[in-house]
Amino acid sequence: MTLRVGVVGGGQLARMMIAPAVELGVELRVLAEDDGMAAALAATAVGDYRDTDTVLAFAREVDVVTFDHEHVPQPVLRALVDAGVPVHPGPDALQFAQDKLRMRARLEELGMPQPEWAAVSDAAQLEEFLDAHGGRAVVKTPRGGYDGKGVRVVSTAAEAEDWFSALAEDAAGGALLVEELVDFTRELAQQVARRPSGEVAAYPVVETVQRDGVCAEVVAPAPHSSGRLEQVAQRIGIGIAEGLGVTGMLAVELFETTDERLLVNELAMRPHNSGHWSQDGAVTGQFEQHLRAVLDLPLGQTAPRQSWSVMVNILGGPAEGALDERFAAAMTAHPGAKVHTYGKAPRPGRKVGHVNVTSDDLDDAVYQARAAAAHFDD
Ligand SMILES: Nc1ncnc2c1ncn2[C@@H]1O[C@H](COP(=O)(O)OP(=O)(O)O)[C@@H](O)[C@H]1O
Ligand SMILES: [Mg+2]
Repeated sequence: MTLRVGVVGGGQLARMMIAPAVELGVELRVLAEDDGMAAALAATAVGDYRDTDTVLAFAREVDVVTFDHEHVPQPVLRALVDAGVPVHPGPDALQFAQDKLRMRARLEELGMPQPEWAAVSDAAQLEEFLDAHGGRAVVKTPRGGYDGKGVRVVSTAAEAEDWFSALAEDAAGGALLVEELVDFTRELAQQVARRPSGEVAAYPVVETVQRDGVCAEVVAPAPHSSGRLEQVAQRIGIGIAEGLGVTGMLAVELFETTDERLLVNELAMRPHNSGHWSQDGAVTGQFEQHLRAVLDLPLGQTAPRQSWSVMVNILGGPAEGALDERFAAAMTAHPGAKVHTYGKAPRPGRKVGHVNVTSDDLDDAVYQARAAAAHFDD
């Protein structure tokens, strides 16, 4: 019998599960937010992921439910579990990817290295943290942020005044997360796949480059890394996957500090932008691995196919004309580059695709990937 995976959310992550699902002989069904979304090809339902009945009806027709994003509310997730639907990752794990304050508290219990942090519910508490941390800090809204939205470097509490006001209006109350401003040399990401039955598979740690809070480039494996750094990153990734009971793909965003420590920034429990390189650069791509993991099938090898992979995001896309008009030029100039597009309308700053290049020559991979992606700029 064909196994059926239901993905809640119709974005590019769901879209990129479609090809591996076909290869694995798995039926992929998507509950999309709207018509015409990136994963429209597999969308068997369109509806509101915050509505219990909608999600339950979708879930009853599949063997396992997984996600394109982490925004499905806990009560909806609990209703699925109560109805006997296998949900991966489950609500107990997912809460730590949904709420950065909960994540910080739980990682502290697990003894994971992380920036100094506090929960602050008013301006006075934030001023106190600022005074104790050199006058600058990073304030974050615990829920719903992405691509740097919900992250602010501040030197006075007044700079977070609007967020405190929003808290005051929120019946549930709550707090903001404040973190020390980490003096990092670079950002890394560690991915781990974990099956419900416990098998784990760690990918090589990668370097990620953020511009304006958005992932711009990834190099895999992270260059200039000692064996010790790779091992520490893997230990952190596996420790979090096991400690939080994550099933499916986990991404741990990390800071490497000037004094050679790794600190956990945040978590994603789904395929992640930092793992797109693996589609073309690893024996098992992260989208295939995610499907294998949530179905509790044996995991695939995570080894790179060649020494280096470079991923460059296509952001915004051309201001005029369709994305595909740029393809021929990119393909002609860079036949070794793999261009992935998400079927999304170009908009400033929006992720509409990415380019992967895999090579034994790092400089060549960086050049080819950047140059191919540049064909999609304005
Ligand atoms: N404590 C910190 N110190 C320094 N830079 C930070 C800190 N927290 C976040 N950043 C920067 O902001 C980016 C976005 O923050 P993150 O918490 O990952 O939010 P998002 O959910 O939007 O990805 C990070 O990738 C990093 O570049
Ligand atoms: Mg992040």
